[in-house]
This record gives sequence, structure tokens and C-alpha cells, in this order.
Amino acid sequence: MEALVADRRPDLVVVSGDLTQRAKPLQFRQARRFLEGLGPPFLAVPGNHDVPMYRVWERLLDRYGAYRRHFSPDLEPSFRDAELEVVGFNTAFNLTIDDGRFTARQLAAAEERFHRDGSAESEGRVRVAVAHHPLAALPELMGWRTARRSGEALTAFAAAGVDLVLAGHVHVAAVGPAPDCGRRLWLVHSGTSTSRRGRGREQGRNTCNLITLNAGPQDAGCLRRSATVEQMLWSERSGLFETEAVHDCPLA
Ligand SMILES: [Fe+2]
Repeated sequence: MEALVADRRPDLVVVSGDLTQRAKPLQFRQARRFLEGLGPPFLAVPGNHDVPMYRVWERLLDRYGAYRRHFSPDLEPSFRDAELEVVGFNTAFNLTIDDGRFTARQLAAAEERFHRDGSAESEGRVRVAVAHHPLAALPELMGWRTARRSGEALTAFAAAGVDLVLAGHVHVAAVGPAPDCGRRLWLVHSGTSTSRRGRGREQGRNTCNLITLNAGPQDAGCLRRSATVEQMLWSERSGLFETEAVHDCPLA
């Protein structure tokens, strides 16, 4: 991962949850050190593994305590630069084992969090939502349940002008258009980047996605762009992440 980041120099590293296996302080501190060591800014949201599963009292009374104390106090960070507006959503509420959900309050605040004010500056940014759990049943996701209120979340994201939704949880990389929600919006799932618990063709192999934003055609005076998603798969042979598939995602 260090070599890939050094080679491709992303503007932002996004981690869509499950930073740890068992939500232990040491695991959070290791995750923080690893991400800080990569160099670029990073944005992370909690996954179900980042909430204690077996420490029942902690799970009931202070479920994000270890995350806040040892990784980040902010469960729903945001990132903005000239081209990007990225907003994290915590879906790992975890009163069940691993199902996720959006809350009505999160969705009511979505549009405001994306700072869509109609200005050329705002409209020129690509808007990206980050959550841990799936929002729609892409074929590669093999029947995994979507987060509760996913349909409402997609509608809220479409109203907020979101272009890409990044998620994880399923241990399989997948890219596809969201079901009809009033806007062209792409779902981009990451497999397992720092463990080998991938499924299907990713079994035993680390994966990650590299997303590149492409400018619109100049002569069309087009502010909007496209995104290219490279699905990267770890190669034992080369000792590097290699491009396994490329998806072109025209943006709205
Ligand atoms: Fe998960």
C-alpha cells in the first residue's frame, strides 16, 4: 500500500470502515499510525468491526469510545479541496451484529453537509459520500443486506448532488450505478485493503480502488467530469497492487 500511494500520490486516502478486527485500543492506534505514515490526508468512517463485539457493556454504553480515544474523535469527517467535497457517514450503529443503518437525522443533514450552494465553485466539485455498509444490491455483493434507510439515503444524496458513494463491508470490490434515485450516482465498493479476508476472486488477496477524476471536455464548457475507478488487486508475483479492472463512470 505504501508503494502504491507513493507511486500514484492520491490527494486523499479514504477508508470506508473496519479499521480494526476487534475495536481494541492498540488496533486503532496501529491503524492511525499506518494511515498517517502513508502521507496524503485521509478520511475514515467506522465499520462494524470498530465497535466492540464481545465487550458487551462497552458496546452498550460507550460503543465508539475506543475509536474516539485511539483513532479519531470525529466519526463523520469531511474533506474539501478545489475539486472534491467528501463527507463521511457512520452506519455502524451495531445493536445487531453487523447490519448498518442511516439515521433520519443524518439524512436530513446531508444536503447541508455537502455545502451545495449553487455557486460555480460548489457545483464544480465532485461530491463523494463515504459509508461502511452497502446501499444497493450490486450483483457482486452476493446478496448482502443493505443498510437500513439505504433508499432514503440514495434519494438524499441525489438531492445533495452526490456523484460517488464509497462503501466496503462485503469484502468484495464492486462498481455500478445506483438504482433510480433521481441522479446519475455511482456506487464504488472497496474489498479488503489491509487484510486478506476477501471473497470470491479476492480470496486471500488484498484489494483497493484507485479513483481518478477526469476533466470534462473544454470545448463543451463542461464543468462536470468523469471518474475512472481502477480496481487494484495484490500480486504475490510482483509484490505490488496491480490493476485488475477499470470502470469509467460518467458523472451527472
Ligand atoms: Fe464490516
